[in-house]
Amino acid sequence: MDLKDRIAVITGATGGLGSTLTRELAAHGLHLALLGNNAAKLEMLAKSLSLPESRLFTHNVNLLDLPETKSTAEAILAKFGQIDILLHVVGGWTGGKTLFDAPAEDLAFMLNQHVWTSFHVIQAFVPHMVKNHWGRVIMITSPSGVRPSAKSGLYAAGKAGQEALMLTLSQELKNTGVTANLLQARTIDVKREKVSAPSPDNSAWTTPEEMSAAILFLLSDEAAAINGAKLPMFGSYS
Ligand SMILES: NC(=O)c1ccc[n+]([C@@H]2O[C@H](COP(=O)([O-])OP(=O)(O)OC[C@H]3O[C@@H](n4cnc5c(N)ncnc54)[C@H](OP(=O)(O)O)[C@@H]3O)[C@@H](O)[C@H]2O)c1
Repeated sequence: MDLKDRIAVITGATGGLGSTLTRELAAHGLHLALLGNNAAKLEMLAKSLSLPESRLFTHNVNLLDLPETKSTAEAILAKFGQIDILLHVVGGWTGGKTLFDAPAEDLAFMLNQHVWTSFHVIQAFVPHMVKNHWGRVIMITSPSGVRPSAKSGLYAAGKAGQEALMLTLSQELKNTGVTANLLQARTIDVKREKVSAPSPDNSAWTTPEEMSAAILFLLSDEAAAINGAKLPMFGSYS
C-alpha cells in the first residue's frame, strides 16, 4: 500500500513537533487522525490544513484516561476502517529541582505525560495494527532518559519509563509487520533558532522538519527492518 493511503494517528498534534509533523504528513497525502487536549487549538490546526473531510478526523481526548483512549481508537476505526501509524508526540517538562526538593506531584506529572500516556496509546492502538500485519509506532525521547543531568531526574524517569515500554514493545512485535522506534532529541527547535540565530548552544537542537523527515523514512516500506531503534538526533552534543 502506498504511504498516502495509510491512516496515521498523531497524538499531541497541536504541539511544537506535532503541528509540523501534521503538516508534513498532510503534504504527503496521508489520512490523519489528529488528537489533542484543547478543542480550540485542534480546530485551528484542522482548518489550516484544508484537507477534505474524507482524509481528516480530529478528536479531543485525555490520554491519561484509558477507556477514553480506547473509545477514540474505535471512533477512528469507524471513520477510516483501519489504523496504520501511531505517532505519539505528547510531552511536557518539569525540572530544575534536586531530588531532595522536587515535589512528589511533579514526579506524578512526568510519569503521567511520558509513561502512562504511552502505555494507554500502545494498548488502544497497536493491537489494531498487529491484526492488519502492518504498522509503525514512533515516540520521541531524550538523551536524559539514559544520562540524566542534575535537577532533571523527574523528566529523566519519565523518559526512561517511556523508552522501556517502547523497547519492550519492539520485542513483542517481532514478525508482526509492525515496528516500534524512538527518535532522541535534546531540544526541539520549535522557533528554528538554529537557523535564525545559530550558536554553539543551539547547534545540537533538532528542528521539527528534521524530525519529520526521519519519521517519514521510518514510515516507509524500506524501513520495515528497523525495529527497536533509538535514533540519536542531537548532533555531536555529548
Ligand atoms: N520540546 C523538546 O525540546 C523535546 C526534547 C526532547 C523530546 N521531546 C519530546 O518530543 C515530543 C513532542 O514534544 P513537544 O515539545 O512538541 O510537545 P508539546 O509542545 O509539549 O506538545 C504536547 C502536546 O501534547 C498534548 N497533551 C498533553 N497532555 C495530554 C494528554 N493528557 N492527553 C492528550 N494530549 C495531551 C498537548 O495538548 P495541549 O497543548 O492542548 O495541552 C500538546 O498538544 C514529546 O514526547 C516530548 O517529550 C521534546
